[in-house]
This record gives sequence, C-alpha cells and structure tokens, in this order.
Amino acid sequence: MLADLALVGFGNVGRRFVRLLEERRDQLGRDHDLTCHITGIATRRHGTTYCAAGIDAAYAAGLLERGGSLDDLSPAVNSRHPKDGIGVIEALARSTAPLRVVVETTTLDVDAGQPAIRHVRLALGAGCHVVTANKGPAAFAYRDLSMLARSHGCSFLFEGAVMDGVPVFNLVRETLPGVTIRGFRGVVNSTTNHILSALEEGLEFAPALARMQSEGIAEADPSLDVDGWDAAAKTAALANVLLDARVTPLDVERTGIGPETASRARAATADGRRLRLVASAARGVRPGVRLEELSPGDLLASLRGTANALILDTDTLGNIAICQLDGGLTHTAYALLSDLITIRRGVRS
Ligand SMILES: NC(=O)c1ccc[n+]([C@@H]2O[C@H](COP(=O)([O-])OP(=O)(O)OC[C@H]3O[C@@H](n4cnc5c(N)ncnc54)[C@H](OP(=O)(O)O)[C@@H]3O)[C@@H](O)[C@H]2O)c1
Repeated sequence: MLADLALVGFGNVGRRFVRLLEERRDQLGRDHDLTCHITGIATRRHGTTYCAAGIDAAYAAGLLERGGSLDDLSPAVNSRHPKDGIGVIEALARSTAPLRVVVETTTLDVDAGQPAIRHVRLALGAGCHVVTANKGPAAFAYRDLSMLARSHGCSFLFEGAVMDGVPVFNLVRETLPGVTIRGFRGVVNSTTNHILSALEEGLEFAPALARMQSEGIAEADPSLDVDGWDAAAKTAALANVLLDARVTPLDVERTGIGPETASRARAATADGRRLRLVASAARGVRPGVRLEELSPGDLLASLRGTANALILDTDTLGNIAICQLDGGLTHTAYALLSDLITIRRGVRS
C-alpha cells in the first residue's frame, strides 16, 4: 500500500526519520506491505519543497546539513506551489494515495502548542493521519484532536512525545485492555537527570550544563529543560491521555533546577538519598514536576545520566514500570516509524 507523507518540520528528528525510513524500506515493504513516498517537506527558515511524485528526502536532509535551502529543490515555483507547512498539508490532502500521513516535528511551544496544533487540526480535518514527536498537541489539545481524528476516521499518534521510542502510549493502548491507570510517577527529562547526576558527582551547575550541551544532550537554549517546561509538557500529555485529564502544561505545578540545586543534590547524596526531578499525576490530583529527595529503594532514585522511567499505578496490576536506559534521536525517529506502522495495521484490519 502506498503512503504519501508530508513532513512539517525537518530538524534533527525529521532528518533522522527520513534516513530510518530509507534504512527500513525493504522491511516495511516485506513485512507491512507499506511503500512510503515523501511528497512534501516544510521548515520555518530553511525552505519548503513539494513534488507529488516523491522527493529524495535523504538528499534533502544532506542539503540542509550543508547549509542549503529546500527551496533549491523546487525551481518551478508557481502560485499553487506550497510555501509553508500549511501549504504542504493542503497539497497532501489533494493526493489520491490510499494513505496520507502528516509527520509533524516542529519546535515545541510551551505557551500554546502552536503551530503544531494548527498543523494537526488541518491535517485531520482533511482526512490525513498524523504522527508527531511534538508534545504540544497532546499536551494542549489531546481531547479535541483525538475527537477530530475519530470523526474523520484518522489516527492521531504521538509515541515519540514522551520517552523517545520507548512505548508508553502504545503500552497502555495496545497491551493493557481493561486496566485503569490511577496515576503515574516518572523521570521524563534526560537533560535535567543528567545534570543532577553530574551535580552529585561534585560538578557545579554551569559546567554540568555546558557538558550536556557539548555532548549534544541539552539544547543550545536549555531553558525548556532546566526550567521544567519540557517535563511539564510531557506530564500534561501523559495526564490527558492516561488519566483522562483536561490540563495543559500551564496547569502543571512546575519546579526547575539551577545553580542552587548543586548543594541540595550533594546533601541528599550524603544522606544516602537522591534528588530527582519527578513528574507525577493522579486522578483528581494536580499534576506536578517537582524536585524530590528519593530513598535508595525508589526505582527513580537509581536512574543515572540520561535514563528515564515511568511508573504506572494501575487498578489491576499494581505498579508497573517502563525504563529507557539510553534515549536519543534514533529512538524518537523510531517512534514516528512505529506510529506509521500502527496506522498501516489499522487500515488493513
Ligand atoms: N531531539 C529529540 O531528541 C527529541 C525527542 C523527542 C521529541 N522531540 C520533539 O520533536 C520535535 C522536533 O525536534 P528536533 O530536535 O527535530 O527540533 P529542531 O531540530 O529544532 O527542528 C525543528 C524543525 O521544525 C521546523 N519548524 C519550526 N516552526 C515551523 C513552522 N511554523 N513551519 C514549518 N516548520 C517549522 C524548523 O524549521 P527551521 O529549522 O527552518 O527553523 C525545524 O526544521 C520537537 O517538538 C521536540 O520537542 C525531540
């Protein structure tokens, strides 16, 4: 089955995704009867390209990495040629391919989840499926978007939004039928966990953060991580999906980490405890991202470096945990791929 894909956002995740798609091309055809054509790619400042017959996306990725623009790939620009993410989605909506999928990987916006929500809404309204690694849509508009998806017979999937490729949403949706999630606790932000581990080892905050940046773990602008916004967006998405909450990241009680955290982290370690930034929520309880001193027996206390974990409190199975010992770009790209395969399976059945 042919799937036409439009990529809105083509940064680290989007480029790794197209390379993974290429690496898995034979397997997707053989095991899932799925052939993907990337017909459109849009960025904010690095151009937009569209070709109904398909784009060489690996070449496009290399072009961007060499400092080029996607506009260079579409010389015959006319008034109908898409110029941005909206245009690329509208063009995809005119495709007659049996599967049409928007892959949304624009930058996270913690004020309102835009422009990702606009992109997702437009795509679903036009009958296109959506997969995204962006936390914004599930964190700010999960209920609306999932209802819109259902009413158009489409999927809205976002496995990569939390814990990269480790299946959190899939785990609950696909393998825990009849189980009610009562709450969760977790360490869901790699940068802050890595910094807290470094502080425990005696590093000060600024060099610990600089080390995360030089290793490519923290963003050049790390405020989304260290101020707790990334974790708050993940917490809101988890609460909306798993606990049927109606919250946004702005409703999450939020603590970050800073230079003053070093002495607290070391004091906790000296006491045999561990300071961790813990995301949590329960039905009827305000979600939060809080610095907590954890006893050594707590699973979350044992997480070092970029490790993440989520403990689900269930009505039937008690507490179950899922851990990610080393995340990264390939894992996030895989989450998009797994969502794509989920969509293909849904169409078959
Ligand atoms: N990196 C990770 O490991 C990871 C893991 C899990 C989830 N995520 C999430 O995945 C998403 C992408 O992450 P990333 O690391 O790939 O970010 P990134 O490298 O900064 O790429 C973001 C892309 O979005 C584009 N963009 C921004 N606004 C746009 C708009 N209005 N229309 C079209 N394109 C737009 C940017 O274009 P320009 O470059 O031209 O500005 C860029 O191509 C984010 O939401 C992030 O939170 C990332």
